[in-house]
Amino acid sequence: MPKEGEPALTLKELWFRYEKDSPDVLQGVNMQVPMGSIFAIVGGNGAGKSTLLKSICGICRAYRGKVEIFGKNLKKYSNTQLFQGCVTMLPQDPKSLFAKSSVRQELEEMDASASAVEAMAATCQIDSLLDAHPYDLSGGEQQRVALAKVLLTKPRLLLLDEPTKGLDGFFKERFAGILRALTRQGLTIVMVSHDVEFCAEYADLVSMFFDGQILTTTTPHRFFGQNSFYTTAANRMSRCVFRNAVTVGDVMELYERNREGTQ
Ligand SMILES: Nc1ncnc2c1ncn2[C@@H]1O[C@H](COP(=O)(O)OP(=O)(O)O)[C@@H](O)[C@H]1O
Ligand SMILES: [Mg+2]
Repeated sequence: MPKEGEPALTLKELWFRYEKDSPDVLQGVNMQVPMGSIFAIVGGNGAGKSTLLKSICGICRAYRGKVEIFGKNLKKYSNTQLFQGCVTMLPQDPKSLFAKSSVRQELEEMDASASAVEAMAATCQIDSLLDAHPYDLSGGEQQRVALAKVLLTKPRLLLLDEPTKGLDGFFKERFAGILRALTRQGLTIVMVSHDVEFCAEYADLVSMFFDGQILTTTTPHRFFGQNSFYTTAANRMSRCVFRNAVTVGDVMELYERNREGTQ
């Protein structure tokens, strides 16, 4: 859960466009991410969510406004300071990070000692895959290998672009378990996602990105409970019976409670 104190990330009036004469993708984005939280951003296709992540880590350079990471202006970080021990991004396609013929080599490439590689493999639950070829793995396994690889840079802020794309329910849950354990150790996570069920279940805060801006930021319960368009299947199906049930777990619990009440 978020801790008190300094936010991990602050965006102030951030503006970005790809070309001088092309439309603004970011139109004055304001956002504050509490330390140690999982912060989810949802929004339509082509809305600019990936661009937003890229402008947080400096791949896209905003032409107006400010990015502050752990209280320091992004512009004041050198690339080494930024990408070794501070910020990292897991791209939408994990395969784009792979160039070696075994998982172990992929991890060792990150200047990590053998013991650090083993420890990270345990954290990301890929111990049994170290000698496999990265391209022989399933989508969920590739995702965890890619996560292990970026985590070896020891980030304090992790950016995830559509992390559950192509994962089935089992792998999603496993992936979420790893993310939760990492935030308990102090990592802050910002993810953009289409996956409303995943955000409802695992995010601490959810933001709506629309029209180049962050519109609302609130808890998943408030966000999905009060939203008729961006909401979970559980909320859509139970809305006529329960107010603000957002996850399958919520519906089950309310159902049990009501059943007990009528017996
Ligand atoms: N490298 C690029 N050059 C020019 N325009 C781009 C580039 N990447 C994305 N865009 C445009 O910026 C807008 C936002 O894209 P993106 O950030 O990928 O949205 P999302 O991740 O929400 O689907 C889209 O109109 C897209 O076409
Ligand atoms: Mg995208």
